[in-house]
Amino acid sequence: MPLGLAPTILYLCLSIFVFIDTVNILHELQSRFATALSGMVDNPAELLLQVRASQDPKFGDYQANCAMPLGKRLGKPPRQIATAIVAKLEIDDLCEPPEIAGPGFINLRLKNDWLAQQASTALADPRVGVPTVAKPRTYVVDYSAPNVAKPMHVGHIRSTVIGNCLYRTLKFVGHEVISDNHLGDWGTQFGMIIYGYKSPEIRAQVQSSGAVEKLGEFGALYAWVNRLGEENPKIREAVLNETVKLHAGDAENLQLWKEIRTQSDKDIDRIYKRLGVKFDDQLGESFYHDWLSAVVDDLQKKEIGRESDGAIGVFLNGYETPFLIRKQDGAFLYATTDLATIQYRMETWHPDAVLYVVDHRQSLHFEQLFATARLWHPEWANVEFKHVNFGTVLGKDGKPFKTRSGDTVGLEILLDEGVSRALAIVSANDDAKPNGPELSTDERQKIAEAVGIGALKYADLSQNRTSDYVFDYDKMLAMNGNTATYMQYAHARVRGIFIKGQKQLGESTTSQQHVTQKIILSHPAERALALAALQFSEAMDLVLADYRPNQLTSYLFELANRFSTFYENCPVLKAETPELLHGRLALCNLTAKVLRQGLELLGIEVVERM
Ligand code: ARG
Repeated sequence: MPLGLAPTILYLCLSIFVFIDTVNILHELQSRFATALSGMVDNPAELLLQVRASQDPKFGDYQANCAMPLGKRLGKPPRQIATAIVAKLEIDDLCEPPEIAGPGFINLRLKNDWLAQQASTALADPRVGVPTVAKPRTYVVDYSAPNVAKPMHVGHIRSTVIGNCLYRTLKFVGHEVISDNHLGDWGTQFGMIIYGYKSPEIRAQVQSSGAVEKLGEFGALYAWVNRLGEENPKIREAVLNETVKLHAGDAENLQLWKEIRTQSDKDIDRIYKRLGVKFDDQLGESFYHDWLSAVVDDLQKKEIGRESDGAIGVFLNGYETPFLIRKQDGAFLYATTDLATIQYRMETWHPDAVLYVVDHRQSLHFEQLFATARLWHPEWANVEFKHVNFGTVLGKDGKPFKTRSGDTVGLEILLDEGVSRALAIVSANDDAKPNGPELSTDERQKIAEAVGIGALKYADLSQNRTSDYVFDYDKMLAMNGNTATYMQYAHARVRGIFIKGQKQLGESTTSQQHVTQKIILSHPAERALALAALQFSEAMDLVLADYRPNQLTSYLFELANRFSTFYENCPVLKAETPELLHGRLALCNLTAKVLRQGLELLGIEVVERM
């Protein structure tokens, strides 16, 4: 081997070693406790859940509260148990000697040197210290799923942003993930549009109504015929007839359906592009049409589906109403399609879990769907079918969010409004800069798009998903508090300090590696910041434990706050020694990387300047 290669190879080996070396601190501690407890109990798994990050640094960085339940189990005083656990615990490579407090709490404090070394390692790691999961699973995430040919509205934003965040997070931690947009592309809305389209009078009325500009021709036809149908049962019947013809394969209606879908695909793709959302598959309801009768037959054959008054349903224990899979008139239902969909997904992807990100009003549907699926295919017993439900978007009046005229608000209009308000804020901030404006019109527009759309997404993601939330532009675009704007600003500020520091060191901004990656923890605020940065992986675990993106926003907000405390207490650019300057710049760099990666998992873009 040529001699010159040796150092390169050595470097590569070392860097591989370095990447493997980052740990999820909580997992590491739990595994040490597992070893210590294994001689004392048969199954320590449940006790390990009692090892957690501390809420209050007074009690150390982590706390193990397993001595109390174990004491109860063994009939011994918990303090004695705690002492026995500590005697067996091998953690002195990463922790100070554990302290036993109160009735038997074990308080753990990580060693400074170990933390500093972990932080430096995380900084050099493209995954910012987040290990991949030991046992990757396969997930199907069913999200967004608007009913096409109607304008997408504010309700769809929740499914889209929550689902997309879960998709990104699952993927980042190393699972196999398939996103499938289960478009509602086979429903009665097509009957309405087709009916309207075939009538020259209705088309003329719609053209002159001015609605086409806002909703597109099909959207306007839908709204128009929908309204006509509300007043006139004859029209409702005619509409139904067009839908039945479509489902029966009528050539003219099928051709129209294709045209409508092509147009609506264009409309929703434009929105998805703006939202930064892509799907691996978009198998809409129509895709399953040909299988529906086989699904019903099979369920009947297995005596899971039963006839009642000419309809066919699954009568599940504990439910007042059956899960209807075929109507009296022979038509199939939403439920039938969902059963065919489950079967297709199981056969195609063999997932360990299927997540449905759909609003809470469909809870009963999903309960019955999952129960039916398990009866139908007992071999799916261990598959996790999960309805990731969410609450309603409300207006400031506390009622479901509507425009002044009472219509639901189109998603595209919301995005435009968010971006235009963001542009006003970005421009005002820029105009107020001490040395005059720094941003070109183009830059302002680009930043406004990131800030406006980021604000909408973050406002949604930072809510507990199961609650309703109030849609309020002023709050979501606020520069302070738990908002995207604040987080994007925090990121830009940290990056700004880092870049300035590099310049000060006489380095070009592109050769970051010349700034040392060695993080030193000489001040409690530095330590608190580094610890938070290293808990990124734990925040992802919290997100995925119950599919709650707000765990990630809370984490990032806390990280940004710890950065502020650090910055108030520890001069960076004016650090006392060159070593401190390097160490603190490295800490800024780590913080910026975690913020950036975290926002990316939320689907939020960062900007270098604001
Ligand atoms: N299109 C439906 C709606 O807007 C949501 C579909 C959710 N996914 C599913 N597999 N059912 O209400």
